Amino acid sequence: MSGKVLAVVLAAGDSTRMKSSKSKVLHTIGNRPMISHVVAALDESGADKIALIVGRDGDAVAAAASTGKLPVTVFQQTERLGTGHAVLMAASEIETGYDAVLVAYGDAPLIEAGPLAAARAKLDEGYDLAVIGFRTPSPTGYGRLLEKDGELVAIREEKDANDNERRIDFCNSGLMAINGAKAASLLRKIGNANVKGEYYLTDLVEIVRAEGGRSATVEASFEMAAGCNNRAELADLEAIWQKRKRRELMVSGVTMIAPETVFLSFDTVIGQDVTIEPNVIFGPGVTVEANVVIHAFSHIEGAYISSGASVGPFARLRPEAKLLANAKVGNFCEVKKAEIGEGAKVNHLSYIGDAVVGARANIGAGTITCNYDGFNKYETRIGADAFIGSNSSLVAPVSIGEGALTASGSVITENVPDGAAAFGRARQVTKEGYGREIMARNEAIKKAKKAASKG
Ligand code: UD1
Ligand code: CA
Repeated sequence: MSGKVLAVVLAAGDSTRMKSSKSKVLHTIGNRPMISHVVAALDESGADKIALIVGRDGDAVAAAASTGKLPVTVFQQTERLGTGHAVLMAASEIETGYDAVLVAYGDAPLIEAGPLAAARAKLDEGYDLAVIGFRTPSPTGYGRLLEKDGELVAIREEKDANDNERRIDFCNSGLMAINGAKAASLLRKIGNANVKGEYYLTDLVEIVRAEGGRSATVEASFEMAAGCNNRAELADLEAIWQKRKRRELMVSGVTMIAPETVFLSFDTVIGQDVTIEPNVIFGPGVTVEANVVIHAFSHIEGAYISSGASVGPFARLRPEAKLLANAKVGNFCEVKKAEIGEGAKVNHLSYIGDAVVGARANIGAGTITCNYDGFNKYETRIGADAFIGSNSSLVAPVSIGEGALTASGSVITENVPDGAAAFGRARQVTKEGYGREIMARNEAIKKAKKAASKG
């Protein structure tokens, strides 16, 4: 974006309709606070600085707005006197001199850089104000954009609109670009003589016009302009966002068999020719390299999955799980803070936590790393080409050498050297004929009980 751009982000609302103990803008879309989405779009559009207008939870909101690289200055709006009043909180910053002031809402997180940059560009065409509008078949509640001869002449709030105006389906998103040099003086001219007694930012259109200036509209889709007032709308926005992110990944070469059942996070990275089966959830911090298959019903967060690996069905990868190339983690396995070496297999019913598993090692069904003693966590190291027998309990700290073997059902409490076999279980005792004897005894007990209950 050309020139110096200040983005004023309104996030001082009381969020009453969210019925929440925290500010609305801290609620997440794609596992990231709404306010962080807005700031990311502003950054991408070329804004230089954020003036953040906060009310409740100011510190937490400021922290969430500061996760990107844009500098953020925070302004507290103590009284909620309207959107025009809110933007004016940043007057001192606006007056340090900007070419454009971009207004965005902390509770409209789906906006992308395109319309923001387009609104900014309108100022270069000589407009003093450019408002981002959208069309919807159900405009009730939104301010309507009133146009005449291709120019924006007023924005009418629902409560102040007449019947004709209410029929207009072109709505105010609330997002707009204002001529930076004139912004502070225009904003100061906003009054509060309206039905709600609020300082309406939307009055800027008529103020600009009264001063001989011109206002323009930029049309965005409802999917970008939509705002969030309650949790039902939060879910609607989440659905829009998920659809967008899935599409982005599919277009970049990811196969999803039932995309509507795959849930992604804002930072999910997935490589080419990855197949994702139905019902997979990606929490934050997941990277998947190329040629991986994620089978159905897997839950993955904070994990790195290298190329050729296979996950699930029904696998759970928790933070710091790292699968090296061609590793396999199969059904009902949980991996946490553990590296699974190249081509290693953890195929069935295992818990591998705080561990390093060497290349090509085979972890038998039901293997558990006993990593926690109720107070501290300990590490398990398993060498390359090791074979861990089914149902082994590896009591950490413990290490199993390269090419070593543990017998099925072992409880391994001591280190196993390279190439060794460890048996951590009682030797089997077999008694000829004793099986039939036990069964006959049990049958007799059952018959006696039955007879007693009848008699
Ligand atoms: C506003 C617009 C309306 C538009 C709609 C889009 C005005 C007068 N109306 O209406 O034309 O269609 O948004 O969603 O601008 N806020 C503050 N401080 C305040 C008041 C509001 O920070 O004193 C913030 C809110 O937290 C919210 C945003 O500004 O993020 C919009 O405020 P809200 O009260 O929801 O405005 P609407 O009545 O929805
Ligand atoms: Ca609103």
